[in-house]
Amino acid sequence: MSEPVCQCGDVPFRVGRTWNPERIRGDFPVLNQTVRGRPLVYLDNAATSQKPSAVIQAVCAYYGTCNANVHRAFHYLAAEATRRYEEVRRAATTFLGAASPREIVFTRGTTEAINLVAAGWARRHLRPGEAIVVTEMEHHSNLVPWQLAAAATGARLRFVPVTSRGELDLEALDRHLADGAARVVAVTHASNVLGTVNPVAEIARRAHAAGAVCVVDGAQSAPHLPVSVQEIGCDFYACSGHKMYGPTGVGILYGRSALLEETDPLLGGGEMIERVELEYSTWAEIPHRFEAGTPNISAVIGLGTALDYLESLGRPAIAECEGRLTRYALDLLRATPGLRVFGDAPERVGVISFEVEGVHPHDLAQFLDTEGIATRAGHLCCQPLMRRLGVPAVSRASLALYNLPEEMNRLVDAIGRAREYFRRGA
Ligand code: ALA
Repeated sequence: MSEPVCQCGDVPFRVGRTWNPERIRGDFPVLNQTVRGRPLVYLDNAATSQKPSAVIQAVCAYYGTCNANVHRAFHYLAAEATRRYEEVRRAATTFLGAASPREIVFTRGTTEAINLVAAGWARRHLRPGEAIVVTEMEHHSNLVPWQLAAAATGARLRFVPVTSRGELDLEALDRHLADGAARVVAVTHASNVLGTVNPVAEIARRAHAAGAVCVVDGAQSAPHLPVSVQEIGCDFYACSGHKMYGPTGVGILYGRSALLEETDPLLGGGEMIERVELEYSTWAEIPHRFEAGTPNISAVIGLGTALDYLESLGRPAIAECEGRLTRYALDLLRATPGLRVFGDAPERVGVISFEVEGVHPHDLAQFLDTEGIATRAGHLCCQPLMRRLGVPAVSRASLALYNLPEEMNRLVDAIGRAREYFRRGA
């Protein structure tokens, strides 16, 4: 059988810049090291991605030149910090295709963003007997907050099953929407286990037709695909900075302005208020009412640089190149004896979960680590999906824009050695 051919690295995707993986890798200092005597292969990008020098420098430059609290003081440094912070809000507006910076809330990450919607919007609007529709594919971050909202309001959870290909059963979605009880449909854009990219625009359309709002978990899509929340038509969209080459501790919640206006704050405190009396307070305008206390200013500024970085490469080009590399990796993995890839959806990102006959995922991850290859193993914060797949845990390789075909070759070769090692040891 001939080796699959990879076409990465040879195609000009974007006017003015040729896609050049080696040059891109040079932007990420962490990749330039050996781990356990071998060049590092970093394939745990769905957990967190590495940071380009520009992001690291932007964080340092903030602390080195204009550290001050935002939205509070009248001095020069405070004005400069506030200007840079709000500039990122405008950049995020463009990045996500939102209508206005008023619709962009900085959070600690996707988890906090979804909790804000579940606690601030859903608890205020849901009534006993109404329904929240989620899917079997969800990360715990887009499931547990809805369980809490259901428990607090008397609403019921309904679950869209996953098909044998790893796609959502949209006929089941329609059945869950048919009686008009659903007020929320919460769905991941891209699965952190199966890589499946869900038809979120179609899901939002069906949700709206049934009178429900649509909440999209974009943690695994925003780093890899062009995203326009207006084109998707969703009401809320959440993503994390650290998965899109930015710092940890910052994320974005997009909320349609009319819905944010009717969302309660998750946290009370400084800067989120308009007027405070001893007995009650009134809130600041959106989005500031959702950003109580001192925000993670340096991370927001670093995130702004990460967004610039992604835009400079071109997000269609990123999607195209990662798509080619993903197909290459899938061809190699599927041709590997004793290996089974979970999920077979045609629309997908470079998140590949698999099992290797006779090797526990934790053992495989440790074995790969001895060869300098970083992957993730476990239930991936998706215990219900593991039960649907019939396994307690999986192995996962997740790709980013700096990964190379040679790294996929190293992964597959190392898996072969692991299988042999554990077969002999058995
Ligand atoms: N949700 C992240 C992952 O899938 C942490 O690894």
